Amino acid sequence: MPTDASGNITSVADTASRSGSSFSAPGFFDRSDSRDDAVFYRPPRLVQHIDDAAVAAVSAYYDEVGVDGDVLDLMSSWVSHLSTPPRHLTLLGMNAAELAANTWAHERVVHDLNADPRLPFADASFDTVVSTVSVDYLTAPVAVFADVARVLRPGGRFAVTFSNRCFPTKAVRGWLATDDAGHVQIVSDYFRASGAFEEPVAQERPSAGDPVYAVCAARR
Ligand SMILES: C[S@@+](CC[C@H](N)C(=O)[O-])C[C@H]1O[C@@H](n2cnc3c(N)ncnc32)[C@H](O)[C@@H]1O
Repeated sequence: MPTDASGNITSVADTASRSGSSFSAPGFFDRSDSRDDAVFYRPPRLVQHIDDAAVAAVSAYYDEVGVDGDVLDLMSSWVSHLSTPPRHLTLLGMNAAELAANTWAHERVVHDLNADPRLPFADASFDTVVSTVSVDYLTAPVAVFADVARVLRPGGRFAVTFSNRCFPTKAVRGWLATDDAGHVQIVSDYFRASGAFEEPVAQERPSAGDPVYAVCAARR
């Protein structure tokens, strides 16, 4: 993907404002496993979802973003891929045992965003929200992104990272149907469609292993 001198991807057109969103195709948010997410996420998976090099790349990216203060790790498991513990770390995920294993957390919330995209947090509660290798599982992402903006403080950033690996039965069909550049476009369009963020900045991050992509925007 073409990048500018800062490493930002330059070819992510504003699809949402020109020709309909990259996610507007019928069936985009269908999944081959349409059962309640609680069924799939019931067994704890204390595993690494990307390789060591990609984990390091995600962590370096979050260092650059400056993830500190009151932080929400959205769609979290047992590790938040931060290099130092923030002042206050809140986790939201699907499996209580996974969240309990994240020793840096101060608060842990089990909440199914596909059943209810509203976040169970007060307005302007967080300085930064991160979400790692999970955005492809959201079936109502624009509602979730809009609610992330609600819980962020003004100027606070939402940093979304992803790779090319996933649980294919739980990822939405539109994600599975496209490539890395398409994924960058989709996540950028989620930010835009929420109407609540500044223009997102997309990057491919240096990784010697699994590829790492990041899209980040500040709350308006
Ligand atoms: C591939 S794992 C990534 C976990 C963690 N972010 C990481 O980087 O290791 C996907 C995560 O998304 C979360 N997730 C999936 N569907 C979800 C939903 N409907 N609501 C909330 N979280 C969900 C699960 O709890 C799971 O831990």
